[in-house]
Amino acid sequence: MRTLASQTLLLLLLVTLALTKGSYRLSHFQTLLTWPGLVESQFISASYVNDTQFMGFNSRAENLSVEHRAPWVDQQEPQYWLEETQSILQEKNFFQEVMKKALRIYNQSMSGYHTIQRRYGCIVLPRGYFNRGFHELTFGGQDYIALNEDLCTWTSACKAAKRIRQEWERAGFAEEVKTYLKDECVELLLAQLHYGEEILLRTDAPKILVTHKVRTDRKITLRCLALNFYPAEITLTWQRDGSNQTLDVELVETRPAGDGTFQKWAAVVVPSGEEQRYTCHVHHEGLPEPLTLRWEPPQPSVPIMPIVTGPVLGAVLIGAVVTSLMWKRRTKG
Ligand SMILES: *[C@@H]1O[C@H](CO)[C@@H](O)[C@H](O)[C@H]1NC(C)=O
Ligand SMILES: *[C@@H]1O[C@H](CO)[C@@H](O)[C@H](O)[C@H]1NC(C)=O
Ligand SMILES: *[C@@H]1O[C@H](CO)[C@@H](O)[C@H](O)[C@H]1NC(C)=O
Ligand SMILES: *[C@@H]1O[C@H](CO)[C@@H](O)[C@H](O)[C@H]1NC(C)=O
Repeated sequence: MRTLASQTLLLLLLVTLALTKGSYRLSHFQTLLTWPGLVESQFISASYVNDTQFMGFNSRAENLSVEHRAPWVDQQEPQYWLEETQSILQEKNFFQEVMKKALRIYNQSMSGYHTIQRRYGCIVLPRGYFNRGFHELTFGGQDYIALNEDLCTWTSACKAAKRIRQEWERAGFAEEVKTYLKDECVELLLAQLHYGEEILLRTDAPKILVTHKVRTDRKITLRCLALNFYPAEITLTWQRDGSNQTLDVELVETRPAGDGTFQKWAAVVVPSGEEQRYTCHVHHEGLPEPLTLRWEPPQPSVPIMPIVTGPVLGAVLIGAVVTSLMWKRRTKG
């Protein structure tokens, strides 16, 4: 388990004061991999605050050390990274032991293709209160062992996980995990929220578009797109004459845009000519109040318009340039 080197109470106090809304999740994702011909198994670890990575380790990277990967400034002492590296190497040993045991149970050799993955972390509520913790381990994608919500007992599936569970029960491992999740994990999360406050606690309101597409069956697909928003939490709904529409609505998962913001869309299929009866409703923290949008048909464009406005605009511009030149000359004179 990771330990947080030195966090002052003051720092935690600052962030709990800033953290007045929303909950946040810290998760560590770790993988141990072996494949034929490999001398030393590979260990990869990545730590996230919600969807933003802030720390990483790869045992096959050039530098055998835990690295800062956050889009915010690293405010830890060099000593902190040394200690992190020490504890991650211990975690690698822990994984190797678990893998050896699991493979012995399945009577398999360490030289095949094998993976063990672990996901663990904590969720805090506004003001930094611990909400819940999680810790789960998967062998080869199927056999697994997970800590229950009580943080005292385990759930396991299949042979290897059952044996390892019994061993962990005897050793009181749940107690150790629980202590980490409730204390150090929360401290680490609050520290990252403090360092990355401007990035993590910001709100970017969504940009909303409604698009219109004629389908092959001559019905219309109206798609309500929400772009560039943060945080990920958003509600998109379609209404017909003011009532929620659920039939014929396709709603995609909120997905990261790759630049730290999120995207989502909801599409509805409507009879041609009835577009104006449908409204898209958007709720997001970044909007002062929920937005309501309709499909806006393009203004009927008369092709003569640009030709007329072109010269008119041109004349106005030329006029402006001439006047400003004259004005300059006059001031010079
Ligand atoms: C972070 O994750 C938590 C737990 O999954 C979720 O409830 C919360 O809305 C997320 N916060 C942000 C800002 O995305
Ligand atoms: C490895 O660490 C050294 C010293 O900390 C650093 O200068 C170098 O850029 C690192 N290399 C990589 C590939 O991260
Ligand atoms: C393990 O595998 C070997 C070779 O396949 C076999 O001889 C042995 O009986 C197996 N042991 C167990 C406990 O299944
Ligand atoms: C419509 O759906 C939204 C989101 O699911 C919900 O908040 C709202 O109460 C619903 N409105 C009605 C009139 O059912």
